[in-house]
Amino acid sequence: MSQITMTNIVKKYGDGFPAVNDVSLDIADGEFMILVGPSGCGKSTLLRMVVGLEDITSGDLSINGKRVNELAPRDRNLAMVFQNYALYPHLTVFENIAFPLRLAKGAANEDEIQRKVRDAAAMLELNDHLERKPGNLSGGQRQRVAMGRAIVRDADAFLFDEPLSNLDAKLRGQMRTEISRMQRRMGITTIYVTHDQTEAMTLGDRVAVLKKGILQQCASPRELYEQPVNLFVAGFIGSPPMNFLPARVEGDSLKLPFVDVPVGPDLAAKLAGKSLVIVGIRPEHLKDAKLGDAMPEGAVSFTAPIDVTEWLGNEQYAYVPYESDPDVQAKLDELDRELDGEGMRTQMVVNLDSRSRVREGEDAELIFDPALMHVFDPESGDNLTRDEAKAAQIAQDSEEDRKRALERAKQREGANA
Ligand SMILES: Nc1ncnc2c1ncn2[C@@H]1O[C@H](COP(=O)(O)OP(=O)(O)OP(=O)(O)O)[C@@H](O)[C@H]1O
Ligand SMILES: [Mg+2]
Repeated sequence: MSQITMTNIVKKYGDGFPAVNDVSLDIADGEFMILVGPSGCGKSTLLRMVVGLEDITSGDLSINGKRVNELAPRDRNLAMVFQNYALYPHLTVFENIAFPLRLAKGAANEDEIQRKVRDAAAMLELNDHLERKPGNLSGGQRQRVAMGRAIVRDADAFLFDEPLSNLDAKLRGQMRTEISRMQRRMGITTIYVTHDQTEAMTLGDRVAVLKKGILQQCASPRELYEQPVNLFVAGFIGSPPMNFLPARVEGDSLKLPFVDVPVGPDLAAKLAGKSLVIVGIRPEHLKDAKLGDAMPEGAVSFTAPIDVTEWLGNEQYAYVPYESDPDVQAKLDELDRELDGEGMRTQMVVNLDSRSRVREGEDAELIFDPALMHVFDPESGDNLTRDEAKAAQIAQDSEEDRKRALERAKQREGANA
């Protein structure tokens, strides 16, 4: 049982560089919190401050309402699982898992150690491997041993720093579901660092997106996807990433590279005084008009030349080059650097249904719902179309989902006991 609260946490390393800059986060009991962001944004530093491996320069860290800034790591009762597992090669799997119990001399007698290790091993399906050495195990099995060691400690919270990054893609998928199931079953507060957005989206009750040490947005995966607060979050969440197109504000319409989009009164008010904005459209919100699928009223269609198509069986991608606007391009190039991008080319990515007959070298008729489009201020990067009421509703729904999932897990546990 534990609730972890960070208030205005700052970390400055020796050279004065703020690796973590004024981060406040409130993590509920039993919640699965993800820290995500590009390399060097301060994820590991923040996690290491929570576990006590790194001093906090300023701000407060409390666990269950008690300030723990000065508490030694061993007194915080948190279990950390590292990327490299840190297993002892000369000890068996059993002894590796039992290690923290033996270390806390007298805390558990031999019977308890046997029971705890076997319970954890059963949960992680390691029973058949207890007498083996880590060197003979697969990457996924080693990962599970490292988790077993965290489980037997009855820690108040689990902290993970990119635990799956050494595994191949298939195993990563398996371990991801396993961690999710284990976390729900144990109902244990978890902070999990990753820069893999699939992990972030699938595991997190909420995801905290960091950029250069500064918290950008902390919200449920769905809120991040549907109601991002700024360009950075919009560009970071979603794969393939959101398209960012330059748009001129002209009268009551937005002039995009291929199409003019009429603007309603609410948006028009926010656009007052601006001549140039950045419009964000997710690849999956652009459709092949020829398929004739139902579209909401107000959908806008346009014709665009298709440069390349990639057919993947369940879906296909089409790439549409366009003329860039030099005034916005500088901003988009900067964004790309912040996102660790591969250099945003001036092309739009369209994620089409695999039935689509759109082919490269031809013109395609595409259609989208402008209500799903985001409009960003090119100076501040703020999302001018974020709908606070919808965002609040999503947050409430997600919180209810989380509580129900924990409740279900508890009932299942009760039924198995
Ligand atoms: N011991 C240190 N001394 C000085 N600067 C450090 C130290 N450790 C980290 N930093 C700096 O702090 C910033 C954040 O580092 P951190 O390791 O927290 O990033 P990260 O988000 O975990 O990145 P990655 O995804 O690459 O693991 C970086 O700019 C890094 O150079
Ligand atoms: Mg790191």
